[in-house]
Amino acid sequence: MSKTGKFADLFVRKEVNTDMFKKTGLDKTLSAFSLTTMGVGAIVGAGIFITPGIIAASYSGPGVWLSYLVAAVVCSLAALCYSEFSSTIPLAGSAYTYIYAVFGELIAWILGWALISEYLFAVSSVAVSWSAYFQNILAGFNIHLPAIFRAAYGTAGSPRALFDLPAFLITMIIAYLLVQGVRESAKVNAVMVILKIAVIVLFIVVAAFYIRPANYSPMLPFGAKGVIRGAAVAFYAYIGFDAVSTASEEVKNPKRDMPIGIVSSLIVASVLYILLSVVLVGVVHYTKLNVADPVAFALHFIHQNWVAGIVSLGAVVGMTTVLIVMLYGGTRLIFAISRDGLLPSALHKLNPQTHVPTINTWALGFIASVFAGIIPLTKIAELVNIGTLFAFAMVSLGVVFLRKDRRFRDLPKSFEVPFYPVIPIISFLACIYLMLQLASFTWMMFGIWLVIGLIVYFGYGFSHSHARQNEEK
Ligand code: ALA
Repeated sequence: MSKTGKFADLFVRKEVNTDMFKKTGLDKTLSAFSLTTMGVGAIVGAGIFITPGIIAASYSGPGVWLSYLVAAVVCSLAALCYSEFSSTIPLAGSAYTYIYAVFGELIAWILGWALISEYLFAVSSVAVSWSAYFQNILAGFNIHLPAIFRAAYGTAGSPRALFDLPAFLITMIIAYLLVQGVRESAKVNAVMVILKIAVIVLFIVVAAFYIRPANYSPMLPFGAKGVIRGAAVAFYAYIGFDAVSTASEEVKNPKRDMPIGIVSSLIVASVLYILLSVVLVGVVHYTKLNVADPVAFALHFIHQNWVAGIVSLGAVVGMTTVLIVMLYGGTRLIFAISRDGLLPSALHKLNPQTHVPTINTWALGFIASVFAGIIPLTKIAELVNIGTLFAFAMVSLGVVFLRKDRRFRDLPKSFEVPFYPVIPIISFLACIYLMLQLASFTWMMFGIWLVIGLIVYFGYGFSHSHARQNEEK
C-alpha cells in the first residue's frame, strides 16, 4: 500500500509508452468515417433542437448565430488540442488519461470527476429533452401519458409531474444497446445520424422561403455581452466531440483517424447550427422564441405542420444518437479511471464475449436514468457546460506541457496544433472566459460536485492507485 503523507504522491504521473497502445482488450473496429458519424451523433441534439430559441429570446436576439459561431470557435480550438493529445496518447479515457500523463494523478482525478459530470448530466439532460419531443409526437396521435409520468417533480408548467418515465426508459434502453457491443451501436448510430442531418436540412430548406428580413433588425438587441453569454449556453450544443476521443483504443488507426474524426464532426455541426439559427430567427421574431421546441414551433408558425411532424421525429432520433455516444463516452472514461485503480475494479471488467465493460455500462446507465427521471432540465443543463469547459481548459493547457515533456517527445504523433503555443493558450483563456459567464448557482453545484470527488479520491482512489503502487515497487 501507499506511503501516505507525501505531497508528491498526489501528483504521481501515469507512465505512457508505445507498448501500452497494443494490448488493451477492447476491439479495434472504428475508422475516421465512423468517428465522424459518432462525433455528429454525439454533438447534434438538444443543443440545436431545444436551446436556440431560448438563446435568441434571452441573450443574443437575431444574432443567435453569432453565439453559435463564438462557441464553435472556442470548441474548435479545444478540438485541435484534443486531437494532438489523442493522436499522441491513444488510450481510452479522453482528457483524463492525457492529463494523468502530463500533470499527475490528483489533477487527473479532478478532471476525470468533472468529465464524469459532463457525461452523466449530458445523458440525463438530453434524455429529458428527448422525452419532451417524444411526448409531442405522441400528442399528435392523441396519446397522453398519465400526468405524474410526464416530467420530473418541479418541472415548470407540469404541476402534477413526479417522474419522467420516457426519459428514464430511453436511457435504460440505450444502456442495453451498448451492452450488446460497440459495433452494433455504431451501425444504429450511423443510420440515425443521417436521418438527423436530413431533418435539419429539411427545416433549413423549407423555412428559408419564409424569412422576413425585418426580423433581423436589430441584429444584437442585447449587445456583444448578450452574444457572449449566449455563447456560454450555446456551448452545450457542441459538447460531445470529446466523446470521440474516449474511443481511441477502439480505433483502427488513431493517429490519422482521430483528428479527422474530431475536426470534421465539429465542422459539420457548426455549419448546421449556424444555418439553422439564421433561418429560425428570420422566420419567427426572436421575442417569440422562448419555447421548448423552437424548430417545430417555427414550422407550425409558417403552417408547415407536416414538416414539423417529420422534424420532431428527426429530433427524437437525433437526440437518441447523442444519448448513445455520451453514455458510451462516459462508460469508457469510467473504464479508464477504474483501470488505473482510482475506482473499484468491477468497473473495468470486460464481458468476454462482447468485450464491453458491462457492469460499468449498467451502473452509469442506471444512475443517468434516475437523474433523468427526477431532475428538471433547467437544473442540469448548465452543469454539463461548466464541467466540460473546465476539462477543455485543462486539455488546452496540457498541450503546452505535452510538447515540452521529454517523456512524450519520442512518441510518434501525426497531428500537432498549429501556431503552438498561441492556440492552446488562447483556447485555455477562452474556455475560462466562457466558464465565467455561467450562473453562480452552476458554480456552486460544480463546487459541491468537486468536493464529493475529493472525498471519493481520498477515501478510495489514493490508496488503490496503480500508478503510485508501481512507483513504490
Ligand atoms: N451537444 C449535445 C446536444 O446538443 C449535448 O444534445
